[in-house]
Amino acid sequence: MRVSRRALMGGAGAAACSLALPLRRSFAEPEIKEYQLTAKPATVNLTGSGYPDTSVWSYAGTVPGPELRVRQGEPVRVVVSNGLGEDTTVHWHGIRLPNAMDGVPGLTQPPIRPGESFIYEFTPPDAGTFWYHPHADSLQQLGRGLAGALIVEEREPIAVDRDLIWLIEDWRLDDDGRIAPGFGNRMEAGMSGRIGNTVTINGQVPERVSVKAGERVRLRILNAMLARIVGLRFAEHRPVVVACDGQPCDPHPLEGGRLVLGPAMRADLILDMAGVPGRSYTVTDDFYRDLAYKLVDLAYGPEKPTRDHPPDRLPRLPVNPLPEPDLAAAERHQIALQGGMMGGKGMMGMGMMGMAGATWAMNGKSMTGDGQHDMPPLVTLRRGQSCVLALRNETAWWHPMHLHGHSFRIIGRNGKPTTRREWRDTVLVPPRETVEIAFVADNPGDWMFHCHVTDHQEAGMMAVLRIS
Ligand code: C2O
Ligand code: CU
Repeated sequence: MRVSRRALMGGAGAAACSLALPLRRSFAEPEIKEYQLTAKPATVNLTGSGYPDTSVWSYAGTVPGPELRVRQGEPVRVVVSNGLGEDTTVHWHGIRLPNAMDGVPGLTQPPIRPGESFIYEFTPPDAGTFWYHPHADSLQQLGRGLAGALIVEEREPIAVDRDLIWLIEDWRLDDDGRIAPGFGNRMEAGMSGRIGNTVTINGQVPERVSVKAGERVRLRILNAMLARIVGLRFAEHRPVVVACDGQPCDPHPLEGGRLVLGPAMRADLILDMAGVPGRSYTVTDDFYRDLAYKLVDLAYGPEKPTRDHPPDRLPRLPVNPLPEPDLAAAERHQIALQGGMMGGKGMMGMGMMGMAGATWAMNGKSMTGDGQHDMPPLVTLRRGQSCVLALRNETAWWHPMHLHGHSFRIIGRNGKPTTRREWRDTVLVPPRETVEIAFVADNPGDWMFHCHVTDHQEAGMMAVLRIS
């Protein structure tokens, strides 16, 4: 396996830096945590015994890929090898890292060719729930199973009995358990995107999750799907949201009793298991009104509750070191999200964006695929500048908009200031609505800004934000 030239240069550059800073080299310097990750085909069982296996594309032979656990502020190195038959890269979704480690082919690195590898190195500044996925042939690579959780642990762990993750994926399987072809068909691309027919949690169609009465769980939920939005209800339970997209927020109950997560979005919940021993409680996804389904049951063991009352203090996650945007001095930009089919009866207005294969646009411009080196930036910002982007969704569809390399505050919706102003890296913009986000452009480089409904991204809803 050949290590690509870019990777070697990255390694050499890092070495040069540490030589230039001899005083930083002390006994206290944390060792670099290293992972090896090979993207390769594998055969797994998604649907349970008695059902056929599925050929997938995997990291390290499993779907999802291995859960990477690192510590906030400590360096990590991941050697990614490409055992697929096509180019790939890895994007560390939500991590504020140097541009050259961001994994966008053409824009931040050359793609990793089959048989080659690339060394990613970064030090996550923020603790929280993040994830990794390819940024090359994304529809197919993500849709065939390439995704994994990246957990950045707080320096001081919070007091919970268990830390669980539900990485949710959906798959479009045929009757023989094969992944159905037809990625990127134009009809889907102009509408909701490719929604699967089989939903898995951590790579398995789940029946039940075993829980104990009285325990307090930190439940990290990650929507790793191409297109499906979830709206989760926890029957007779009262989860409290403590982080959005990895970033701690003011703890609050689910808005409208439901946790809505678009593709790429995450939530950390504190869930007190206050149910009755021996009983089961259903977690339902009813985001699409007529298509509600049971995601999984919380199945209580028969044992007596481990405590009489839930602990009365909610654990507080320490805040991450995010720069606060100065709204008075912020530069403001309008970004219109455009295109797609009109929804309802009309079904027109498609393919008018003036670029081959483009169905969607941002401010009239379409950038298609997974990354490009030759697109002029949609917005250019000076490093350190505070910035407000008003995202106006002129389409009939939902768009989870993701900015690379930064987290941003949600400061307004439809002209009204928000009360929670939570930090996110992906914001779900409903049809015909406007969302205002604010951040400090403190991370230099060319950064992707795109819809995370992968069909929409590939068909034009993607742009570059330049920070220089
Ligand atoms: Cu998770 Cu450019 O994406
Ligand atoms: Cu979209």
